[in-house]
Amino acid sequence: ERIAGRNSVLLPGFVDMHTHLREPGREDTETIASGSAAAALGGYTAVFAMANTDPVADNSTVTDNVYRTGREVGLVDVHPVGAVTVGLQGKQLAEMGMMAAGAAKVKMFSDDGKCVDDPLLMRRALEYAKGLDVLIAQHAEEPRLTVGALAHDGPTASRLGLAGWPRAAEESIVVRDALLARDAGTRVHICHASTEGTVELVKWAKAQGISITAEVTPHHLLLTDARLETYDPVNKVNPPLREERDNLALRRGLADGTIDCVATDHAPHAAQEKCCEFSVARPGMLGLETALSIVVETMVNTGLLDWRGVAKVMSERPAQIVGLTDQGRPIAVGEPANLTVVDAEASWTVTADDLASLSRNTPYADMTLPATIRATVLRGAVTAYEGSVRR
Ligand code: DOR
Ligand code: ZN
Ligand code: ZN
Ligand code: ZN
Repeated sequence: ERIAGRNSVLLPGFVDMHTHLREPGREDTETIASGSAAAALGGYTAVFAMANTDPVADNSTVTDNVYRTGREVGLVDVHPVGAVTVGLQGKQLAEMGMMAAGAAKVKMFSDDGKCVDDPLLMRRALEYAKGLDVLIAQHAEEPRLTVGALAHDGPTASRLGLAGWPRAAEESIVVRDALLARDAGTRVHICHASTEGTVELVKWAKAQGISITAEVTPHHLLLTDARLETYDPVNKVNPPLREERDNLALRRGLADGTIDCVATDHAPHAAQEKCCEFSVARPGMLGLETALSIVVETMVNTGLLDWRGVAKVMSERPAQIVGLTDQGRPIAVGEPANLTVVDAEASWTVTADDLASLSRNTPYADMTLPATIRATVLRGAVTAYEGSVRR
C-alpha cells in the first residue's frame, strides 16, 4: 500500500499511558470502539484504558473484558489499567496479581479519578507492585488540600472565586510517593504533572536514583487558567490549568527528560455534564485526536524538540515505562510495523462535531493547529488514513 506523500515524517506508533474510554458504564460518552477510532486517528497504536469505569476495573473480569473488546475492535491495542484499590477510593488493595495474570496481563495500576490519599495504603501498594513487577501510576492529588468541586488554582481562578486545588495538593503526593518508592525499592509513575514544583521535585528524585517517571498532558503544555475568565466548563480539568510559568517548566522538563512522556488524559464527558455551572461540571477534556498537534505547537515549533524527540516522548518512553515490547522501537525487516505517518507541514481547524469521540468536550474547538496524521499502521494494517478509520 502506498502512503507516502510530501513532508511526511515516519514515527513509531504513539503509546498513550492515560486514556479514559468509559466502557463499561458510560457508553453514552465513549466506548472502546469510539475511543479506539479517536486513538487511531490521533496516531496511536496502543492506549492504556483508565480504571475509573462503572464497575471499576478492580478485578480481572472487568480488565479481561476491556482487553477482549479492544482486540475485537482491532483499531488500537487497548491495555486496561487496574485500580489499586477495591472501588475507586477503597480502603483495601485490589487483587493486582489476579489482574496481572489474566488475559489482559495488566501492567499498570492507578488511582486515577480519585486519589488514594492514605499513605499506608500507597506504601503497601508499592510493596505489592514490586513483587509483581507492575507499575503504580499516581494521580497525585491530596484531596484534603482541595476545595472539592471548585478544583482550580491560579490568579484568574482566585479572582473569579474558583480556586480550589493548590499546587501543594499535587506536590506533596509527588514527594511522599517518591520517598515511598525509594524505601520500597520500586517504581512509581506520576500522572499528569501540572506544576513547576512537580518538575523540580521529579528532577530531584531522579538525581537521588529514585525510580520515578512522569507524564504531562498536551493541555498542561499549552493552556493556562486565563481561560477560566469565561467560566466555560470545557476548561475544567483535574489537575487544573495553571500558569504560564508552569507551561514553560513542563515544556523544559519534557525537553530535558525530567518529564518522560506525553499522555493525553483523554476524558470524554456528556454535553449535559459540561454545559452547567462551572462548580458542578465534570472535570476533563478530550485529547487523543489533538495530542500530536499540541506537541508540535508547544515543543517542535518552539525548537524544544526535534522529530526524534517527538518519537521518544509519544512512543518510545511510554512503551518502555509500561513494558510494552512490541511498541516504540525500530522495526526489523519483515516485521509487522506499528507506526504513524505525520504530515509535518499541514494544518487543520478543529471542529468538535467532526471528532470520532462520542463526546464534544475539546478545548481546541475552532483553533487551527499544526500537523496532521496522514496514516496509522497497527501490526502492518492501516487503521487510519487521511482522517478516516479503516475497519
Ligand atoms: O480531568 C480529569 N478527568 N482528571 C482525572 O483525573 C479524571 C478524569 C475523568 O475521569 O474524567
Ligand atoms: Zn487524574
Ligand atoms: Zn493518588
Ligand atoms: Zn485521568
